[in-house]
Amino acid sequence: MKSVAVLPGDGIGPEVTAAALDVVEKLGLPLDLRFGEIGWECWRHEGDPVPQRTWKLLEETDTCLLGAITSKPLREAEAELPSGLRGTGLTFVSPVIQLRQRLSLYANVRPVIDLVDRRFDFTVIRENTEGLYAGFDFHGLDDALWNVVREHPNAQASGPRATGVTLRLQTEFGMDRLLRYGFAYARSRGYTRLTLVDKPNVLRHTSNHLRERLERMAGDYPDIETEILNVDAVALWMVRRPERFGVLVAENMFGDILSDLGAGVMGGLGLAPSGNIGDHGSYFEPVHGSAPGMAGQGRANPMAMMLAVAQMLDHLDLSVPGDDLRAAVRAVAARRTTVTYDMGGTSGTREVAQAVTEELAAEKNASDTVDEVVDRLSRLDTASVSDALDSLGVGGVLAGIAPRVPGTRAAGRAFTVTYQPVDDSAQGFRNAANYLDDVPEGAFVVVDNAGSTTCTNWGSLLTRLALRRGVRGTALHGSARDIAEIRAAGYPLFSTGVTMVSGKNRVELAATGREVVIGDVTVRPGDIVVADDNGALIVPADHAVEVADRAERVEHTEEAIAGAVGAGLRLDEARRRFGYAKPWDDSGARTSRA
Ligand code: NAI
Ligand code: MG
Repeated sequence: MKSVAVLPGDGIGPEVTAAALDVVEKLGLPLDLRFGEIGWECWRHEGDPVPQRTWKLLEETDTCLLGAITSKPLREAEAELPSGLRGTGLTFVSPVIQLRQRLSLYANVRPVIDLVDRRFDFTVIRENTEGLYAGFDFHGLDDALWNVVREHPNAQASGPRATGVTLRLQTEFGMDRLLRYGFAYARSRGYTRLTLVDKPNVLRHTSNHLRERLERMAGDYPDIETEILNVDAVALWMVRRPERFGVLVAENMFGDILSDLGAGVMGGLGLAPSGNIGDHGSYFEPVHGSAPGMAGQGRANPMAMMLAVAQMLDHLDLSVPGDDLRAAVRAVAARRTTVTYDMGGTSGTREVAQAVTEELAAEKNASDTVDEVVDRLSRLDTASVSDALDSLGVGGVLAGIAPRVPGTRAAGRAFTVTYQPVDDSAQGFRNAANYLDDVPEGAFVVVDNAGSTTCTNWGSLLTRLALRRGVRGTALHGSARDIAEIRAAGYPLFSTGVTMVSGKNRVELAATGREVVIGDVTVRPGDIVVADDNGALIVPADHAVEVADRAERVEHTEEAIAGAVGAGLRLDEARRRFGYAKPWDDSGARTSRA
């Protein structure tokens, strides 16, 4: 059981928090939600926007969900204090800044996903504690600082009192922990590219230092490609080609600017979530503020908050419900019938929450139905399933992909993997098989390596991992090795060929979850693979129930015919009687046509 401090805060904070939590309740998660107070009301009544009891709550919980907090300039803040507290030297310090400092939350994590078209999915990770915002900001210079800048002609023209300086603080401690978090995040979320955003041609020394730290760490993450790009170029590409990015890591100021740009690319403040992460604490919140002008009207978009909750669930190792929640928000956003004003709709906060809740329930039902039909198909012979596909005029047989482990049979939802020949210009081996970490339990891996028999895409190590992950089987449009071990493990393996040659440095992963074409069969992720000693075939997801119905009737009919022949009936007579020609025709299966 994980505990979460829930701090709804001010303005629209409580509305969007309540809406998101209504949805979370439906997920039935092992979460202990503990509510607390933070923000403007605490300041107005107690002179402290983060009261001691709230710090205590934060200490006692695993993470925190924050709504939004109103901040006002110093003078207005003072004026709203109760009279007894005015003039006592209390100053308003932004609660989010207090949280970040006191909990040492060094990484600000902003996922940017295309909710409607799924065109892009990247994350900006901003350093939160140093860089240009470290606070070394001076106006009127002492001798030490003046000596640093005095040669600059503009400084000479102004003199020390009329010159200002900001220092960009960059420490190995700060850089390393941020980079490490960035790599770990990329790996855990399946991103294959990490872009360091900096300005190496201008900030030559600090950028070079950062580059050295990156290169040093990149060796530990050979599966993640790294690059260093100029911040201005990234701003351009984020708008023009957002799909090229995976994880972007940037120092404080560059990250600040790019993360708001990211929120814009995503579609606005009503959609963008964020997390602030440290080694010993974290909190999650929508990027937007308390929007006091619309507070209490029930018009605020709760999606940013819902996505912040999904991000929090990922962080708490509850990424399956996190993904479900994101998928439901995506579906509602894409349908556009129940969205708030900022997305062009007329619905209110509560209606959107209701729509997301219904979507979650519908997805749950759909996946239960698929599980059920996979179960039915797994008990049928591929021969009967093939007859049923024939009867519907649907192809599906993976021609040339032969069973390698006799006596195995399996069915599962296709998880598609595409390989391509190694691009010689790219660096080294890229752990092409790491995709297995993402394969869901109950899936059937379908690998397309263009039918190659010159090198392998599967062996004993992957088999072991697949078995551990509850993968049902593997069909390779390509080749396998270590056949003896795979037989000993009894793993359902089907392939075009067998060879001993490694795929390492010959092929690399091009994509997962993409439609693949094998012979004249198109395999879409989520289609159902059925395989046994006859070979492997694909049942398209949208025909699955009908195929299972028909295949079951085929088997009943054949049993009935076999029974009748055993009882002495002539074969032609038995076939006629039990409707052998069209067993899926219900009437044929039961009535004699003799
Ligand atoms: P804001 O983000 O609160 O609102 C700006 C505008 O964005 C709103 O007027 C509204 O048109 C739109 N908007 C924001 N959230 C929306 C949502 N969920 N659905 C639909 N439209 C939405 O920024 P503003 O007005 O600059 O700041 C208001 C208060 O919030 C200030 O006191 C500020 O200090 C505070 N703030 C707090 C933050 C936090 O809690 N982390 C972050 C930003 C501002
Ligand atoms: Mg900002």
